[in-house]
Amino acid sequence: MAGTVLVTGGFGLVGSATVRRLTELGRTVVVADLDTPANRKSQATLSRGASVRWTDLTDEDQVQRLVSDVAPEVIIHLAAVIPPPIYKNPKLAKRVNVDATATLVRIAEQQPTPPRFIQASSNAVYGARNPHTATAPVRAEDQMRPCDLYSGTKAEAEAIVRSSKLPWVVLRLGGVLSTDPNAMPLSADALYFESLLPTDGRLHSVDVRDVAWAFAAATTADVVGEILLIAGDDSHRIRQGDVGAALAAARGLPGVLPPGRPGDPDRDDGWFVTDWMDTARAQEALQFQHYSWPDMQAETAANAGWTRHLLRLLTPLAPLLRAILARRGAYRNTPGRYADPWAAIRARLGEPAWDQPRELS
Ligand SMILES: NC(=O)c1ccc[n+]([C@@H]2O[C@H](COP(=O)([O-])OP(=O)(O)OC[C@H]3O[C@@H](n4cnc5c(N)ncnc54)[C@H](O)[C@@H]3O)[C@@H](O)[C@H]2O)c1
Repeated sequence: MAGTVLVTGGFGLVGSATVRRLTELGRTVVVADLDTPANRKSQATLSRGASVRWTDLTDEDQVQRLVSDVAPEVIIHLAAVIPPPIYKNPKLAKRVNVDATATLVRIAEQQPTPPRFIQASSNAVYGARNPHTATAPVRAEDQMRPCDLYSGTKAEAEAIVRSSKLPWVVLRLGGVLSTDPNAMPLSADALYFESLLPTDGRLHSVDVRDVAWAFAAATTADVVGEILLIAGDDSHRIRQGDVGAALAAARGLPGVLPPGRPGDPDRDDGWFVTDWMDTARAQEALQFQHYSWPDMQAETAANAGWTRHLLRLLTPLAPLLRAILARRGAYRNTPGRYADPWAAIRARLGEPAWDQPRELS
């Protein structure tokens, strides 16, 4: 029987699904996550085979105790601060995304039997992607070109893992989505963020269960030393503006989201950090793609159940709801026709710039 898998950030969107998949496979799992009321609630839903060690990964002593006590065979490192909250607290983002990764890697290296280390990275490391000038899909061997706090801290973390003595695997994820309405709660910041992204930006989505499958498969597959691109099949090669509209319609609210703005074809830096990805090698090694984008929309509609029918009664109110949301949109009162995501992030969430400390390859 394979040894213990330590999953950091195991109560997050990707973590919850990954822990479920690992326990389905009969693996012993230890979740390391923050002791918060929400995570305490999630603890009650943990499946058999999984237990929790409340840990703040920014605290070196806690990390040392965690790793020596658990003596994991594999570490799946998911814990991170991600958009949109990352832009509100850059200092915390660096401590969690970069410094805590460095601490965890160093302590893992000192174990008598150093564990396999699977790092959750992101397609964000390729930087801003203008679909009018940048060729797609991105490939594992393409240069990292981080350009903001999120892509910068994820690229730094990746560099730390890849230069370690551990048997490492890097999974760069696309846009992770769930058909479970409770897994992706809507907040004012999330709605604002959705409204600021260029609608014609390329996004490669993926069902969170397929991401979980990939992480579980990467614990044993012959992939050490590889960077693997984790996104859905070709039906998931979509545009940013398609996502919100399709999911709102599937939940029973077609036409409520205001249209948004396209990106500026003449500004390569005026786009968000997503693109379509070449998943061929990852799929060959991990066989993780099971849910297409049309499957996800159909399942989202089925999961909405009776609320979908209730919400559909509100369809005549869609123009009013759309007008209310438009008033909260990122570009209200902003002249011009094009989206400017970094200015919109700066205006409401915080400074998105990354003070690039060193060259990353
Ligand atoms: N969600 C996506 O679309 C996406 C895309 C690309 C990459 N990723 C990467 O995948 C990973 C998981 O993302 P997610 O969507 O599940 O994020 P999430 O925000 O849902 O989960 C992150 C988890 O990390 C935990 N965490 C944060 N700070 C911590 C600390 N100091 N100590 C211990 N735990 C801490 C949080 O409590 C949370 O449970 C991240 O590394 C992220 O960068 C996500």
